[in-house]
Amino acid sequence: MEKVLIYDIKYLYTNNNTPPVKGDKMRSVSCLEDAYIYIEDGIIKDIGTKNWDKLKCNNPYLYNAEGTIAIPGLIDSHTHLVFGGSREHEFSRKIGGEDYLEILKSGGGILSTVTETKNASFEELYSQAKRSLDEMLLFGVTTIEAKSGYGLDLETEVKSLEVLKKLNMNHPIDIHVTYLGAHALPNEYLGNRQGFITQIKKDLLVIKEKKLADFVDVFCEVGVFTAEETREILEKARELGFRLRVHTDEIKSIGGTEVALKNSAKTIDHLMAITDEDILKVAKTDTIANLLPSTSFFLNKEYAPARKLIDTGAAVSVSSDYNPGSTPSENFQLTLQIAANKLKMLPNEILTAATINPAFGLDIHTKVGSLEKGKIADITLLNCKNLDYFFYHYGINHTRSVFKNGILVVENRNIVKRL
Ligand code: NIG
Ligand code: FE
Repeated sequence: MEKVLIYDIKYLYTNNNTPPVKGDKMRSVSCLEDAYIYIEDGIIKDIGTKNWDKLKCNNPYLYNAEGTIAIPGLIDSHTHLVFGGSREHEFSRKIGGEDYLEILKSGGGILSTVTETKNASFEELYSQAKRSLDEMLLFGVTTIEAKSGYGLDLETEVKSLEVLKKLNMNHPIDIHVTYLGAHALPNEYLGNRQGFITQIKKDLLVIKEKKLADFVDVFCEVGVFTAEETREILEKARELGFRLRVHTDEIKSIGGTEVALKNSAKTIDHLMAITDEDILKVAKTDTIANLLPSTSFFLNKEYAPARKLIDTGAAVSVSSDYNPGSTPSENFQLTLQIAANKLKMLPNEILTAATINPAFGLDIHTKVGSLEKGKIADITLLNCKNLDYFFYHYGINHTRSVFKNGILVVENRNIVKRL
């Protein structure tokens, strides 16, 4: 039996409320001083303070945390991990003030990444995504959600989803996969929108049969897919047993949130333009409001009304939205620091939004998302004096080490190589 004792943790932070953790409860994070975590076969068996010496008789592998702080492994529940190429050629246009949707309309944006993704081999996509995953792990992330969506045809979507499947088997980070076939209208379908929706509905059957995704997502936005089109796809996906996530209210509010809530989506994502009326509706449901502040930062756009959402009683998570267009950065710690500075979320709220709430949004909250007996030992140790310091000293990587399933996978900001 593999036994590990992590001792001399200065502070251990975790939100042990039952998720979805809503409103005020997002702030109720417990903090143990001088703590230890005892692990057997990847599962947390004991958490306590001070008297860790008593556990040494079990002969565990001893890991001295040397006064650093411990949090649950971070969960980034919205990424577009698999894509070909990059979009730095659009960066100057963006700096010059050109709008995201204008760039998309002129054949750039998502569509240019679609071309590169179609042209990339499985191996190219795999190694590019693996590099990003390694970066994420170094930033203390132990679980992610990752979407397809740069294929827009079945063959490339399947290739992307298979890349994710293989990465999930080979990489310490757990990947929960979402099919985002309706990410943009491909050029071949201009003038035949309904034809594309019908095709997506057919493709859902194949994705289901091949067991390539657990979730289905749609980009509901002006110039992309309407609320009605979103409804049609979501209803079909739901009928087939997929769980749902929806990109909605990113730029304009066009009814996507209401459609998502009616279909019991696990998450609604972006929400910079969510209406007050919809905030009230979200707060009455178990759907997680998944906010993506790095996207607002990179696109120089409004920030989502996180305070209103939390103060109205909604359950909020924060994710990176890592993608080549609106968020080309794997630095999840920076995303969380932007959540503090721009979303005006408090440190305890952000911890909740990056651990137990995204776990709920991925339906894995009984296994991960908090540090409790019986849960999987996914633990991130940070070189910080306390949790406030983690958000205040921004832009750097605070990770000291990462345990995934009770195994040390990052030590002193290096991935631990295994034979
Ligand atoms: O979530 N909003 C839609 N999709 C991505 C952007 C994709 C891209 O620009 O490549 C997002 O921000
Ligand atoms: Fe996204």
